[in-house]
Amino acid sequence: MRLILLGPPGAGKGTQAKMLREKFRKPQISTGDILRKSVQEDTALGRKAKLFMNAGKLVEDDVVVGLIRERLVKEDCQSGFILDGFPRTIIQAEKLTETLKEMNLSIDTVIDFQVDTDELVNRLTGRSTCSDCGAMFHKISRPPLKIGICDGCGGSLYQRDDDKEETIKKRLEVYQNETAPLREFYRKQGNLKTAQGDGTVEEVFARVRAIVISI
Ligand code: AP5
Repeated sequence: MRLILLGPPGAGKGTQAKMLREKFRKPQISTGDILRKSVQEDTALGRKAKLFMNAGKLVEDDVVVGLIRERLVKEDCQSGFILDGFPRTIIQAEKLTETLKEMNLSIDTVIDFQVDTDELVNRLTGRSTCSDCGAMFHKISRPPLKIGICDGCGGSLYQRDDDKEETIKKRLEVYQNETAPLREFYRKQGNLKTAQGDGTVEEVFARVRAIVISI
């Protein structure tokens, strides 16, 4: 099972990727999470990436491609993986195809999440994330039992710096210009599947699961 989850910011890629990881026991690889960890650890990469992320722009292709190449050769990826937030440009997609080809592998399916823009903005402005385990909450659709505390591990919840309304607008614009063309890229390769991303998290997961078990 080698999957790509494609969709605009707030489409639910991270939420669904975590559910797929639990259900199918495959690693979730999120370039956003890897970059945020580098920012938190204040590494040279993190300091550079932060400037792009906080401005709602994409980090340079060669940086994220390098991160993914290092990750895909690890033992836990050999029986499959779930890519969440990568690739995001045609160059990244081409480099991914090349990397997998060197490993005699290819992508099985690309799941493209479709959600209305107003709903995306609602989801992002209401999101909070656990600083310890990365679990996600939403003030309306998935509120934590105790304000500011993760239900799962008790860690503290924070709002992402890029979830401010102005930055969200920029991220959506960047998605349309740089990432949406990937739909056509993968449609031509015959492995694009669309999943409606509206409805509850569980309803969306039922659609995603049906796609995955049909592979
Ligand atoms: P990244 O972390 O990948 O962010 P994103 O793609 O903008 O996506 P999000 O994490 O915001 O949303 P999501 O689709 O995962 O939704 P989620 O499940 O969290 O990237 C951040 C930045 O890093 C980029 O802007 C860029 O700078 C850089 N970067 C990352 N990858 C890169 C790459 N490949 N190349 C270059 N730069 C890169 O859900 C959102 C909220 O909605 C949550 O609160 C959740 O609880 C709620 N929710 C989810 N599903 C539902 C539902 N069905 N109903 C109601 N609420 C829901």
